[in-house]
Formats: sequence, structure tokens, C-alpha cells
Amino acid sequence: MFAAPRAKSVTAPTAVRLRVNIFRRGNVNMPKERTLVLIKPDAVQRGLIGEVLSRFERKGLTLAAMKLMRLDRELACRHYAAHADKDFFEPLIAFITSGPLVAVALEGENAVALVRKIMGATDPMEAAPGTIRGDFCERMRYNLVHGSDCPLSAAEELRLFFNECDYVVSGH
Ligand code: CDP
Ligand code: MG
Repeated sequence: MFAAPRAKSVTAPTAVRLRVNIFRRGNVNMPKERTLVLIKPDAVQRGLIGEVLSRFERKGLTLAAMKLMRLDRELACRHYAAHADKDFFEPLIAFITSGPLVAVALEGENAVALVRKIMGATDPMEAAPGTIRGDFCERMRYNLVHGSDCPLSAAEELRLFFNECDYVVSGH
């Protein structure tokens, strides 16, 4: 008996790596970033979850984790701690805790800045047409979506909303 020659095999991790390189766009060495998006209670109530998510997805950002949840006062205050001394703080906390919201960790190259661009300016009067806020809202408080404003706050905010075990490895 002689042993049949072994077929050249590609191990599973190698196959995964090949797929990653084939489908990755742009500079393969560009590090991915994660950012926190909140689809706020006004967007949920208006049935805009899909619309908001699809705008981020169509731009190429991917979902790393997602939760439908209702914030309690403690988490809302921690999330908006930077605004604690502002006159709009209490109404903002009342609004953000008023109903369910969707917390999303989005991933991609320059995800933090990209999300802010897609959201548009805080004031809907300043938000450009084509942005989420520019297309769908008219009042400053009820501006549909939150996005972290820099990589450092993204990391801090993501820690408030997600544990490491909430992240799903997408494989692309
Ligand atoms: O959300 P963004 O980072 O664009 O704005 P912010 O200055 O961090 O403010 C946080 C949130 O507070 C806004 O998204 C609005 O919902 C709310 N806000 C408000 O109710 N009244 C203001 N004068 C400014 C902000
Ligand atoms: Mg902000």
C-alpha cells in the first residue's frame, strides 16, 4: 500500500485571511476604528431605525454590536456628563430616557469622523441636505442620532454601552 499524495490544503484561518484581503477596500493597512451611534428615542418612535442604519451601512461602515434598550437616568447622565453644566442638560436627559433607543457600535476606517459627517450638524438648521439630521429633523434636541465626537470619547462611550462579549466578529 502506498499513501496517496496529500492534497494541498488551505487551513481555515488562512482562508479567512484571504477573504479579508480580497474584499477590503482602500489601504489594507489602514486601522479600523469603532464609534458609538445612538439611534435616539425620536428616531425609534418615528420608525427611522432602518433608514438611519442603512445610511451608515451604504457608506461601508459595519455593525460590530447592537442593542435595543431604554436608558436609565444614571447611564444617560454618565453618557452626557460633558454637558452637565449646560442649560439643556435636564431636558436632554428627560428626552434620551423617554423611550427605547438603539445603541450601535460601528466599525470602519475613520469611523468616528465618517459617522459625524453622515449625521450632519447638531443644529438641524445648519445640517446639510443629504445628512440624517439635514433630511429628517427640524429641532435641535430631537436630532435623531448621536455619534461620538472623537476617538477618545468613542472608546469611553463604547465602554458604557457594550462589554467585550457583545462584539461579533464579522469575518469581512
Ligand atoms: O450630538 P452632538 O454631538 O452633535 O451635539 P452636542 O453638542 O454634544 O449635544 C448633545 C445633544 O444635546 C444634541 O445632540 C441635542 O440632542 C442636545 N442639545 C440640546 O438639546 N440643546 C442644545 N442647545 C444643544 C444640544
Ligand atoms: Mg456630542
